[in-house]
Amino acid sequence: MGLPRKVRASLLVVAVLLAAVGCGNSESDDGAAQAETGGLIGISMPSGDQARWITDGENLSYQFERMGYTADVEVADGKPAKQIQQIQQMIDSGARALVISAVDGKSLTGVLEKAHEAKVKVIAYDRLIEGTPDVDYFATFDGRRVGVLQASYLVDALGLRNGGEPVTMELFAGSADDNNASVFYKGAMSVLQPFIASGRLDVRSGQTSFSAVTTKAWSDEVARQRMARILDEYYQSDDLDAVLSPYDGMSRGVLQAITAAGKKRPVITGQDAEIESVKLIASGKQDQTVFKDTRKLAELAANMVKTLLTGGTPTVTDTTQFDNGVKVVPTALLQPVTVVKSNYEKILVGSSYYSAAQVGLAS
Ligand code: GAL
Repeated sequence: MGLPRKVRASLLVVAVLLAAVGCGNSESDDGAAQAETGGLIGISMPSGDQARWITDGENLSYQFERMGYTADVEVADGKPAKQIQQIQQMIDSGARALVISAVDGKSLTGVLEKAHEAKVKVIAYDRLIEGTPDVDYFATFDGRRVGVLQASYLVDALGLRNGGEPVTMELFAGSADDNNASVFYKGAMSVLQPFIASGRLDVRSGQTSFSAVTTKAWSDEVARQRMARILDEYYQSDDLDAVLSPYDGMSRGVLQAITAAGKKRPVITGQDAEIESVKLIASGKQDQTVFKDTRKLAELAANMVKTLLTGGTPTVTDTTQFDNGVKVVPTALLQPVTVVKSNYEKILVGSSYYSAAQVGLAS
């Protein structure tokens, strides 16, 4: 990203030509030179609608170019077929490695077989790629912890550990085609389930199973519609006290439905520290988000690729958890952080993730 597509395409052609005549750092006929850095890296992001993936693409591109590689970032617009086509194109253009955040984690088996045949290394970036042996490593955040942080925030904010009257809550999970959605939800439910079982938490819709609460494509609009239906059906005469939301975009959709129904604002969580939600947190309209420093994730993934392409073995932190149905994918996990009104400035502005002006603070 950053550069217009035509410029990127021309850069790509130059890189491929240089490689063909044996210039620059690109590979030559000498096996040892394969260990050099340089050459093309394909970066495949799932969607441009959710703010973070654009930034992730830019961060990855920055890291690879800093290391001497050429980066081609493509965005699949939420369409699995488009992503497959873009990845195939990257393989055909001679990519040495692919960093992929899948639209649909189970849709890439065929194209990754082609990558494997072409000896292209594959890193799953923040979303597990499932049902294929042709994924080398996974770079992500501790997703179970994301869910635990969201649910723990709700438990504390609602004072659930103190006895008291039942408190109402509705539950939302992410997209069923993204393995993260169930990981976050399981983490959250490990904290919330005992309160539901004891009756302290009342999920009035009765929708608590993962399949009942998923949200196609993590869509704000799908979340808004479901929230509106639930309010209409179960909260005609009451306010809803709290909402477990796994992602900021969905939180904003839920809040729209609440406003439209004229209800009191529930306590609500989120994830990604998207700029629009950080502003809502600053102005007291959303309570919490989970910050995942995607600059660090991009650096981690780029280092994995460099290590692999220079003949090394990347360091991982988990070799048991991420079974993709065919293999356990060796994984490096980063830790997420809870962000609320009292710490957003320190965590997000203090680390220069956002400028003071971006989050609406006087700079
Ligand atoms: C997930 C990711 C979340 C959020 C969501 C919607 O895979 O882990 O951080 O970005 O997608 O884009």
